[in-house]
Amino acid sequence: MQCDAARMKRLGVCALVLAFSACHTESPQVPLPDSSAQVVQSSSASAPAVVAPSASASASAVVPAASSAVAQPAAPVDLALGGRLYDSFFRDGSHMAGFEPDASSTKGKADGKGGPRKDGSLLNKDGTPLLNDAGHDYRLKNFFGWDLRGESGIYGAGYMKKGYVLKVDLLSGRESAKELASWLKNGTAEVPAYGSVMDDASLAAVSEFIVAVRERKLVHPADVFDLKAGSPGNYSLRSGGNAARGKELYGERCAGCHGNDGTKLLFDGGEFSLGSHARQKAYEDWLKIMNGQPGTGTGKWTYIGTMGPQLKGTGAEMTRELLDLFAALCDRAAFPKGAAKGKDVDNGDARCRDYLR
Ligand code: HEC
Repeated sequence: MQCDAARMKRLGVCALVLAFSACHTESPQVPLPDSSAQVVQSSSASAPAVVAPSASASASAVVPAASSAVAQPAAPVDLALGGRLYDSFFRDGSHMAGFEPDASSTKGKADGKGGPRKDGSLLNKDGTPLLNDAGHDYRLKNFFGWDLRGESGIYGAGYMKKGYVLKVDLLSGRESAKELASWLKNGTAEVPAYGSVMDDASLAAVSEFIVAVRERKLVHPADVFDLKAGSPGNYSLRSGGNAARGKELYGERCAGCHGNDGTKLLFDGGEFSLGSHARQKAYEDWLKIMNGQPGTGTGKWTYIGTMGPQLKGTGAEMTRELLDLFAALCDRAAFPKGAAKGKDVDNGDARCRDYLR
């Protein structure tokens, strides 16, 4: 159970209160979703209950008397946490730790840990258990893809053809974060009900994250890569990145952990260096670099520290930083594969396009 102060600080004031309570799941005082307002009131913070930024207008309309507290924006939802929960809620969900997905190798049998049936499965809206036979691990990134676009995105039939990807394109809808949160909480016939493994603050963070990507307050994946059916990886980085600027950024923000040439940490059981990974899986890495890597700072990565969100500024500024970083990482001499076992890209590979060196 991760209840350290640094982690709680990152969660923000309101989430902190909820996270603190949820960290003591054994105690009978775990707040039910309905009691969240009460919990927040009992804290010293005067911020309203966990409300989405978009709700601040209606909050000020509801709260009488224009005190300075009302003029303050609502406590911001931690969008990067939302992104990491989208990636892998059970690796970064300190609040609801202990979920281990049912193993996909044992078909027809739920043999994981945690969740409503305590067997690592989740339920659909109608209460029927959804097993992990298809290998989605209940990760939202598997149901909707690394680009959040479901069937029409990189995991869809036109591209990587993942059997578990769902129809919904999260970036083409117009739902509010509140609507998305209740949809994820209760599930549908296909989407499991995440309310049993994510508390309201976590669901709000995921939903705000989705809306922020859609509205380009964060990086929108379509601004980083184009889908490209039939070519390796099914994508191609967009133009406009500046490799020299990216290399500088890398030196400032990444080299301390990943080493000057990105070979200090190898990924996926030694298959990739940071460079060889970024040259082949930028469709995944854009999300990791924007939000941080779930589960770092614990287990075997304790000695390195936590990789949190790496980009700064507005959505447009973050997009530029990301393209700059990818442009730099497309240089095989500057960011070699080192001792990684997997192969690197060949000359002419479309993923890095003309950034490839
Ligand atoms: C505090 C240390 C730290 C910093 C700073 C950091 N990282 Fe990481 N990063 C890690 C660790 C640890 C991992 C986990 C590797 C794993 O899970 O196999 C990781 C994972 C990643 C991954 C995911 C690879 C995968 O297999 O999914 C990417 C991409 C990445 N880092 C890129 C970057 C970039 C680019 C920067 C700088 C902008 C950066 N990191 C800064 C520590 C850090």
